[in-house]
Amino acid sequence: MTQSPNNTSPRKILVTSALPYANGSIHLGHLVEYIQTDIWVRFQKMRGVDCTYVCADDAHGTAIMLKAEQLGHSAEQQIANVKAEHEADFAAFNIGFDNYHSTHSDENRELSSMIYGRLKANGHIATRAITQAYDPEKQLFLADRYIKGTCPKCKTEDQYGDNCEKCGATYSPMDLINPKSAISGATPVAKDSEHFFFTLPAFSDFLKTWTRAGHLQDEVANKMAEWLDAGLQEWDISRDAPYFGFEIPGEPGKYFYVWLDAPIGYIASLKNLLDRKRAEGEEQGGDWEEYWKPDSTAEVYHFIGKDIVNFHALFWPAMLHSANLRTPSKICVHGFLTVNGTKMSKSRGTFINARTYLDHLNPEYLRYYFAAKLTSNVDDIDLNLEDFIQRVNSDLVGKVVNIASRTAKFINNAGGVLANEIADKALWQQFIDAGETIANYYESRDYSKAMREIMALADAANEYIATQEPWKLAKQPGAEAQTQAVCALGINMFRALLTYLKPVLPALTQDAEQFLGETLNWKAPISFRSDEKINEFKPLLTRVEKDKVDAMIEAGKESLAAAAPAKASTKAPAAEKSGEPIAAEIEFDDFAKVDLRIALIANAEHVEGSDKLLRLTLDLDGETRNVFSGIKSAYKPEDLVGKLTVVVANLKPRKMKFGMSEGMVLAAGPGGNELYLLEPHNGAKPGQRVM
Ligand code: MSP
Ligand code: ZN
Repeated sequence: MTQSPNNTSPRKILVTSALPYANGSIHLGHLVEYIQTDIWVRFQKMRGVDCTYVCADDAHGTAIMLKAEQLGHSAEQQIANVKAEHEADFAAFNIGFDNYHSTHSDENRELSSMIYGRLKANGHIATRAITQAYDPEKQLFLADRYIKGTCPKCKTEDQYGDNCEKCGATYSPMDLINPKSAISGATPVAKDSEHFFFTLPAFSDFLKTWTRAGHLQDEVANKMAEWLDAGLQEWDISRDAPYFGFEIPGEPGKYFYVWLDAPIGYIASLKNLLDRKRAEGEEQGGDWEEYWKPDSTAEVYHFIGKDIVNFHALFWPAMLHSANLRTPSKICVHGFLTVNGTKMSKSRGTFINARTYLDHLNPEYLRYYFAAKLTSNVDDIDLNLEDFIQRVNSDLVGKVVNIASRTAKFINNAGGVLANEIADKALWQQFIDAGETIANYYESRDYSKAMREIMALADAANEYIATQEPWKLAKQPGAEAQTQAVCALGINMFRALLTYLKPVLPALTQDAEQFLGETLNWKAPISFRSDEKINEFKPLLTRVEKDKVDAMIEAGKESLAAAAPAKASTKAPAAEKSGEPIAAEIEFDDFAKVDLRIALIANAEHVEGSDKLLRLTLDLDGETRNVFSGIKSAYKPEDLVGKLTVVVANLKPRKMKFGMSEGMVLAAGPGGNELYLLEPHNGAKPGQRVM
């Protein structure tokens, strides 16, 4: 067991990643963080540390409320849909949360009220009226980003918020010439309302000490020092109705600002997990206070991006301190993702959603590539797609997997038994000795150094095999034992490499474990396996193909053109013979890849020149799809208009003779005039996900 640095009890760690907003899809930028955190957690667990990883959707705020409105459903429906989508994306990337919750939960309401109550009781909540821009049409106070107008300085039109993109001027949004609400287009008016403030300046001295006490990377601590020296402001923690969030206890019409209850969502997710475990009769874990009481010996690690440091390194510790809860052990801040050296861009196709990536490429590639780039500092990291292809192919396929593929068959040919003797003790010792160095790199989040160390070992292994030439030895009479010994060392070096890579490559490792017939663990220095059977070697990883990467970029551009996260193609539904056997079992994740949506058949018509197809115009809640469906012999177009059905919404669009088909509707029956479109029960709405 690993010991915590300053005491002798075993380590117990709570780890979090930032809670993604429930108004958009997970993209590769987000994944930098979730992959970075997941690798760290998997590493800790492998080393025998009691490590719990929680996250949640960040479900509150104006943006989510407006998004739901725009899609024509309730905020609750919005956050449920997005949560399902986020969870499926994370699962596909093997992000191993112990719990994934929502900030719109009972636990979070309870904890937020409790913490707010303590801040208030301690005199850390101030009240005063402020003047804000108000949309008289929507009857909504407007945050700066929802106001646009002409820059008062350079007269550039269509500038949002409080600064001009063109000339860089900063101003109050009300100083914009001809200001308009970006939501309704109405001219905003100034309106007063009472707000609640957290008295952050009261924590100035506390924070000056806290930010220098080893909880932050140096560069982050320096940035905080600048802000602290400039002087802190009181923090506005309330918003007026209408707002999607928690009403402040005892203050009707006033809501907690999303950033008040968001970090409390970390605790709420933990509480939800531990309550559930206890309900299931598990003793282990205790309750959330064990982690969060002031004298807790557990460690708390928050992984976040550099854009949200103020919330985590200033507001959050101050709130916790006032509320008599412990503060985080470490805030681990990472930089932003760029693609091919520049900001992710929708028009260049480099604003890549998790799902778009998954449609084309193996998630293990990206996990490895990020690991090879991630350091413990706050620098941005670049996904260079050429380098991505080259790196993954050369390191994973060319170096690591190659070791097994070059040696396994000779062992299997000789009955699948590993040798008794270590053919090159010095070489093997290198593999053992590197273990602690690599572990230290993982611990300090220097993954790029860990990967470099591992690839150096892989080079040594390949060199050894190239020199020994087992494929020649295998043909030499009398050299059986030597062939065995060389290959046994090869397989053992492969075992060591995969053990060290297991936090980064959980899926690849799982397949390798199948082949090795063992579970690789890293609680102690690696030991040499001998005299045991291994299973038949099957190729573990295919090369990244450039055309798949290109197709992904194209798909990124397309989804922009469709102005929707997923776009679909269609083929006429295949007529199924009844009595067809049920297809092979699949994992839930496989099913979750299929994005089924309720669609309203807004129009249906015959297709000139086709005796099978109808052209359907589907409405997926504001988004229109053109779909060709081979149901002409079963339906009259006029009978379909106004009906709801189910469409595969993320099928790749298909070019047909008559035009693009952007989805596929689902129908049952043997075919011909016996085809039955699926229709949901009453109450389902266009655009809703079918799960
Ligand atoms: N909801 C807040 C976090 C609340 S935590 C109590 C939020 N959500 S987010 O969806 O915008 O971002 C989630 C995390 O992803 C953040 O840590 C953010 O820094 C990170 N990233 C979002 N885009 C990113 C890149 N392009 N690159 C790297 N990380 C990025 O902020
Ligand atoms: Zn300007």
